[in-house]
Amino acid sequence: MIATAQTTRTVKVDLAGRSYDILIGRNLLPGAGEAIASAMKIRGCLIVTDAIVAGHHLATLEASLGAAGIAHASLVLPAGEKTKSWPFLEQTVEAILANRLERGDAVVALGGGVIGDLAGFASAIARRGMRFVQVPTSLLAQVDSSVGGKTGINSPVGKNLVGAFHQPGIVIADTGLLDTLSPREMKAGYAEVVKYGLIDRPDFFEWLEAGAWRGILAGGPEREEAVAVACSAKAAIVARDETETGDRALLNLGHTFGHALEALVQYDGARLVHGEGVAIGMAMAHRFSQKLGLCSQEVPSRVAAHLQAVGLPTRLADVPGGAGSPDAILDAIRQDKKVSRGALTFILTRGIGRSFIAKDVSAEKVLDFLKEEAA
Ligand code: GLY
Repeated sequence: MIATAQTTRTVKVDLAGRSYDILIGRNLLPGAGEAIASAMKIRGCLIVTDAIVAGHHLATLEASLGAAGIAHASLVLPAGEKTKSWPFLEQTVEAILANRLERGDAVVALGGGVIGDLAGFASAIARRGMRFVQVPTSLLAQVDSSVGGKTGINSPVGKNLVGAFHQPGIVIADTGLLDTLSPREMKAGYAEVVKYGLIDRPDFFEWLEAGAWRGILAGGPEREEAVAVACSAKAAIVARDETETGDRALLNLGHTFGHALEALVQYDGARLVHGEGVAIGMAMAHRFSQKLGLCSQEVPSRVAAHLQAVGLPTRLADVPGGAGSPDAILDAIRQDKKVSRGALTFILTRGIGRSFIAKDVSAEKVLDFLKEEAA
């Protein structure tokens, strides 16, 4: 018997003619086909997933698409950040074409951030743009990467340097799928949950800090609440700045340092996964803000204490095998796409939930700070 979803929350991403719903709840996957059919008229789709997720969830999604009368084929790719690259983009686009999918058909991303970004980008460029559905299976993807239309791949030069904005037509976030994640993956995704509290929702941070984090990781009702709050926080920012000409950059809190560390470990997930880089990056962004005199010492201490309580890394020394020299980290920061005409942009803060975009941050100040952090 197919169990039905209990409570489904809906968060709307308001983008005029391209608005869409994010459905959030336990046990939504068996009804995904029906939800997709009501959101868009498609004849067929290609499901793009990875080998680990396929083992857990592909059969359920295929059955639900079949039940909704949507023809489907599946492409199962290797798991891991290295899949977000040119060779796998080519493979995905060729699979779309080989399956004779038309422009009005869809690509369905069943996976975490890597699969969502890759499949989304393939759907943006195949036949000059097809429909796209996100079925995120990691906490990180449910609260961040599946929402807002950023798609793309990494280049050997840096992360996410090739891509397009291409919004999904629906996001189906089945929070029960997170039960199969490893504790490490759950914690890494949790870093992106904390991010929304630190950007502009101090009450949300306090709720997390006071103990809600335990329920989120363990699968209590706090999980749906946190995914819904995170998605509405992100939806609000995306609705006012879809293509990151302004406020959307706030979502990069912790990412400038974090991306540099990921690049320095050559995207080796055994050493550092994205959310862990973001956790270290957020702790560093708060310490850097304190060093620049923007906030009191209590602020970075509180952020680091919470991340550590959850079991997340907060320091350069926490990167297994070392993070690289301060000069190497600064070089990696300069390669990041958030550098504009050579000026360094950071998300800094005046307190918990009081983040802001700081342009023209001096490279000398960053280097001094990195030397202190590495000492
Ligand atoms: N993950 C950052 C953004 O979507 O803008």
